[in-house]
Amino acid sequence: MRTIAVVNQKGGCGKTITAINISAFLAKQQRKVLIIDMDPQGHTTLGLQTDSVHPGGTVSEVLLRESNREGPGLKDVRRAVFPGLDLIPADIVLSGVPDRLSEVPGREYRLAKALFEVRGNYHYVIVDCPPSVGLLTFNALMACSEAIIPLDPSFFSLHGIGKLMETLDVLARRAGHDIEPRALITLYTGRTDFVREVVADIRKHLPDRVFDTIVRFSIKLAEAASHGLPIVEYCRRCAGYDDYRMVTAEILRQEERRPVFSGEIEDSKTATTFDIGQADTLVPSAPVSTPEGVLFTLEAPEAQRVQIAGDFNSWAPAGNEMEFSNGVWRTILSLAPGRYKYRYIVDGDWTADPLNPEVERSPYGDYDSVIDLE
Ligand SMILES: Nc1ncnc2c1ncn2[C@@H]1O[C@H](COP(=O)(O)OP(=O)(O)OP(=O)(O)O)[C@@H](O)[C@H]1O
Ligand SMILES: [Mg+2]
Repeated sequence: MRTIAVVNQKGGCGKTITAINISAFLAKQQRKVLIIDMDPQGHTTLGLQTDSVHPGGTVSEVLLRESNREGPGLKDVRRAVFPGLDLIPADIVLSGVPDRLSEVPGREYRLAKALFEVRGNYHYVIVDCPPSVGLLTFNALMACSEAIIPLDPSFFSLHGIGKLMETLDVLARRAGHDIEPRALITLYTGRTDFVREVVADIRKHLPDRVFDTIVRFSIKLAEAASHGLPIVEYCRRCAGYDDYRMVTAEILRQEERRPVFSGEIEDSKTATTFDIGQADTLVPSAPVSTPEGVLFTLEAPEAQRVQIAGDFNSWAPAGNEMEFSNGVWRTILSLAPGRYKYRYIVDGDWTADPLNPEVERSPYGDYDSVIDLE
């Protein structure tokens, strides 16, 4: 499953239009796509659905639920837009979520955790971010391994772009996992020398991090969104249709490096070197000491690969695969008495142990799980 955040703290640069239209084109290419609206303005929701009265829930309830077992999950609040495309809606209530979670440990992981339960149901998850760097954007980045950064060249200087890339690197470090960013030039008019120069500069300075396609200014894109439709359902003879079709083609070409079909990533579910014995009926919990060693368990039925890293293995996930059986990932490690910090790496995403309340703030401002062994 590819997870892509559409992110830029600058407002009005085409994030929502990009998220909506690449999601729709991907779905038309037989990919199963979940688009998540993480902006309290709810523009993605409005841009894909014209009915303003929603009987179901929104992303806010999912982020605010107490535990995975209580309250709605993504599966409960998703709505079908058309075959292959589901939407997780948002509304203004989302603006209050960061305050309500302000003291809650692990609040940055809420979206990532919620995504576990839909892993395996989608080839792509596209997250539309709000125009700010706060908890909502951070949740999106925690949940994603790629980012598309729409840039409106008429407002940008190269300095601004450098700053943006820096911010993204800092956020990726704080998120504790790599996020591959790629800039997408949008709202291009090409009318002035300044705009043409900015585009040339972006290309020169970020050679491998820019989409080849430039999205031109196309009034049909705004019109389509105002009718609650992606461009592919609204107008097939306009620049907006051609450009987002091309952007999507680039995203699909990247599948050579980032496969999305479970058949192709099945191999990564390799056997572990640990013999877990009779643990098949195990209920997941925080780590427990057993005669064989410390037993780590994680419930992640849809994950393709789970590893463990901590200060006991120099935080190196390679070679530290967990074994999967009956919906539970497990491994036994032989550890000397002491205090250890660790995380699970679920399909490349570093997450704290959801069942271990003991956490410690990491140097990057997020949380590691902690165990004390007598
Ligand atoms: N290529 C385009 N051509 C013409 N209009 C566009 C294009 N892309 C976006 N727009 C319009 O520009 C405005 C801003 O776009 P959009 O809402 O996608 O930006 P955003 O980055 O999501 O904004 P915000 O930061 O407020 O969430 C909208 O009215 C949208 O319809
Ligand atoms: Mg937006």
